[in-house]
Amino acid sequence: MKYTRSQTYDRQFLLDNMMGPNAMKMLEELTELPGMLELKPGMRVLDLGCGRGLTSIFLAKEFGVQVFATDLWITASENFARFKEAGIDQRIIPIHADAADLPYADEYFDAIISIDAYHYFGRVEGFVDEKIAPLLKKGGKLAIVVPGLKKDIHDNIPPEMLLSWNAEAIETLRSPEWWRNLLSKSERLELQAVGELEGFRECWNDWLQCDNEYAIGDRKAMEGGAGKYMDLVYVIATKR
Ligand SMILES: C[S@@+](CC[C@H](N)C(=O)[O-])C[C@H]1O[C@@H](n2cnc3c(N)ncnc32)[C@H](O)[C@@H]1O
Repeated sequence: MKYTRSQTYDRQFLLDNMMGPNAMKMLEELTELPGMLELKPGMRVLDLGCGRGLTSIFLAKEFGVQVFATDLWITASENFARFKEAGIDQRIIPIHADAADLPYADEYFDAIISIDAYHYFGRVEGFVDEKIAPLLKKGGKLAIVVPGLKKDIHDNIPPEMLLSWNAEAIETLRSPEWWRNLLSKSERLELQAVGELEGFRECWNDWLQCDNEYAIGDRKAMEGGAGKYMDLVYVIATKR
């Protein structure tokens, strides 16, 4: 994967604002999956759990969509300052909200995209139909990437994983099969694809180079060999 678009962004800006594996590269690969997401200028896109808004900037700049950059841990004011600095604040609306209580109209969005966030709030059966699907137009897309596992190992967690993460954190990491099983139960969305991003290593390596205290914490497990269990899982579904 060449990441021709992500490569054009300032590396230090990305390192300073990452909150996990390189979100811009994950999004670039997601948007290039053939026949999955067709983002066109002027579409309304919810970037759910946008963190410091790297993916919101990418969506607005690369596709000319109107982005609602929504996050819980990062304030709207902090993100607004970053979007202004990047000269893209006209096309990104920063919102501070919880995914369980989103302040948007039903059928408002052409797409809901969530990079490295959905596993924190979306693992409960029924959540997607109750909280997420209503906000999509008919034919609109939900597209998610989450850190996960190649196979579920929760009954016998390998010690390498415990070098950086406790059982509660590991509970959020799930296999493609687990996500397929959860989201195929949706009555409002039709599951289109579940798979693994090929950029796993590169996205993680970028993150592990950050000075961020969480990146430093994650190095222990990855240097200890936990990478062989890990994955980046994507899911794409369409509103019925
Ligand atoms: C690991 S960070 C990733 C941020 C960003 N997507 C990225 O990849 O750089 C996870 C993000 O999920 C967001 N998040 C967690 N729980 C949330 C919730 N209930 N509602 C909205 N956002 C949530 C956090 O605020 C945080 O910014």
